[in-house]
Amino acid sequence: MSNNLLKGKKGIIFGALNDMSIAWKVAERAHEEGAEFVLTNAPIAMRMGEINKLAESCGNALVIPADATDMDDLSNLFDKATEHLGGKIDFILHSIGMSPNVRKGKHYTETNYDFYHKTLDISAMSLHRVLKTAYEKDAVNDWGSVVALSYIAAQRVFPDYNDMADAKSLLESITRSFGYHYGIRNKVRINTISQSPTMTTAGSGVKGFDEFVAYAEDMSPLGNAGSIECANYVVSMFSDLTKYVTMQNLFHDGGYSFTGVSEKVIEKFKQ
Ligand SMILES: NC(=O)c1ccc[n+]([C@@H]2O[C@H](COP(=O)([O-])OP(=O)(O)OC[C@H]3O[C@@H](n4cnc5c(N)ncnc54)[C@H](O)[C@@H]3O)[C@@H](O)[C@H]2O)c1
Repeated sequence: MSNNLLKGKKGIIFGALNDMSIAWKVAERAHEEGAEFVLTNAPIAMRMGEINKLAESCGNALVIPADATDMDDLSNLFDKATEHLGGKIDFILHSIGMSPNVRKGKHYTETNYDFYHKTLDISAMSLHRVLKTAYEKDAVNDWGSVVALSYIAAQRVFPDYNDMADAKSLLESITRSFGYHYGIRNKVRINTISQSPTMTTAGSGVKGFDEFVAYAEDMSPLGNAGSIECANYVVSMFSDLTKYVTMQNLFHDGGYSFTGVSEKVIEKFKQ
């Protein structure tokens, strides 16, 4: 259903790998709501060509490869995107995460520091890189909106989330710090949405993910929030209905974050 919430708005969407990706759903919903955008992902992630299918279904959106840790790629992306879209943009989705330590099964206490650097650069500093590029090029309209995706491991320990927890803490901190400066200069708002565990390529890379999803489901009064619901929330954050929300970490998790324990979980401990 469309309410034309993003009619006339232009943006850049990072991170649609396949049709399970949260960014994929955001692109579909943003298109339905009347937005025009450029899709981007790391060159290596485009090898399977999946993103072209999404581009086609989103009014033949332009696809521009960019490694979010590479400043030249980001500069090229913003130049080409603003040229193609005919001027400044209104929204950016940062939906990027990857940890080589998680991928290689390195325990948090035995971290590989080269991997750790990569985790932080890809999953958190990339937001700073994207914002700095946009800021220097003055590429975002006043009252524009930037959303990055986070996870509650930024605040609480989830042992197998590994160094991604540290990356999410940094991501949320960059959101506040850059949100301040960009807010002052251009009223650009920057927020993170802290999403329920969701079955995607990045999500299922975490050890014991299925059990983790089931636990969160039983702990959340509303149940886990799905990726389509997440996309709806992102759309509302890109819209003019949320103009004064900035520098926040917004939980989108069916109430999980504020539940100490649920009856469903207690039930499982009864002898
Ligand atoms: N799935 C979950 O349970 C969950 C929960 C909370 C938050 N998130 C966050 O949502 C975001 C999107 O993840 P997803 O679950 O849709 O999985 P996904 O695997 O579909 O998306 C991750 C994306 O990051 C991209 N990426 C990796 N390295 C990159 C680089 N160097 N440059 C540019 N892009 C790069 C990948 O190509 C991929 O498109 C991530 O930040 C993730 O941490 C996911």
